[in-house]
Amino acid sequence: MSSHFAKQVFPRRNRGATPRGALFIYQPAYLGIDTRGKAVYLPLMYRNVLLGGEPGSGKSVALGNIVSHAALCTDVDLVLIDGKLVELLPYAPVAKEFVGNNINQALKVLRGLQAEMDARYLHLARTGAKKITSKDEFRATLLAIDELAYFSVTVGTPEQQKEFVTLVRDLVARGRAAGIIVVAATQRPSADIVPTSLRDLFSYRIAFRCTTDSSSDIILGTGWAKEGYSAKQISPDALGIGLLLAEGGIPRRFKTAFLTDLHVTKLVRRAAYFRRAAA
Ligand SMILES: Nc1ncnc2c1ncn2[C@@H]1O[C@H](COP(=O)(O)OP(=O)(O)OP(=O)(O)O)[C@@H](O)[C@H]1O
Ligand SMILES: [Mg+2]
Repeated sequence: MSSHFAKQVFPRRNRGATPRGALFIYQPAYLGIDTRGKAVYLPLMYRNVLLGGEPGSGKSVALGNIVSHAALCTDVDLVLIDGKLVELLPYAPVAKEFVGNNINQALKVLRGLQAEMDARYLHLARTGAKKITSKDEFRATLLAIDELAYFSVTVGTPEQQKEFVTLVRDLVARGRAAGIIVVAATQRPSADIVPTSLRDLFSYRIAFRCTTDSSSDIILGTGWAKEGYSAKQISPDALGIGLLLAEGGIPRRFKTAFLTDLHVTKLVRRAAYFRRAAA
């Protein structure tokens, strides 16, 4: 590594100080651009995100953008669960927990996160606060799950699948104020794969290309296709184009930013430096 590069990527600074260029989870994450070329940002703190769409439509790329933002933030721990193993693996060096296609391990990690959430609520109750803030001693946690359906219907026993869904539902339902952000991707969040009681808790929904209006409505919520907002209208070659629905808004068409493998490798190296320097 040349000394010039070393200076740029790993500038000298005091241990414990926030390194220059590091991000904060309280800042919104950059997702891509909308149809007018305007940048699309997604506030993550106190929110949960559900990504859906048919195979190869761009879910993992979008999830990667969110995880990349969080990786560069020094105030958030990453907990990554990836049924396909390879999508989130590049971020494993900066993750607090990384789980591949192993439901036992996934359950263990989720139980730990649930216990942590309960401890945080106890802290909030003691201090009279309503939610974790940037001034708290607790760091935020980003739980990213790719291939949710793999754990909810494909592997493990019915009891394990049920426990997995129950734990995720609890983290989505109660995690927000405790500083736990859940971002989950699945091909078709129909009731058999993602129970409606869980799906409806996500405050942000992103629908990538779908084959039917009803699949699009399953992700965004019933009625949007009739109003003219359907991810079925996204053409099959429009990779990375999706409809983003935020609480109380209308779906916004956008295209995700695309990070190559080399971008991700460099980004993770930088994130590792930020995290070491801020530790
Ligand atoms: N914003 C984008 N710009 C350019 N290409 C993209 C974009 N998003 C996705 N792609 C292309 O589409 C491919 C499939 O994307 P991705 O892996 O995110 O799909 P997916 O929805 O996660 O599929 P699966 O359900 O099979 O996991 C990527 O490998 C990439 O080549
Ligand atoms: Mg994928």
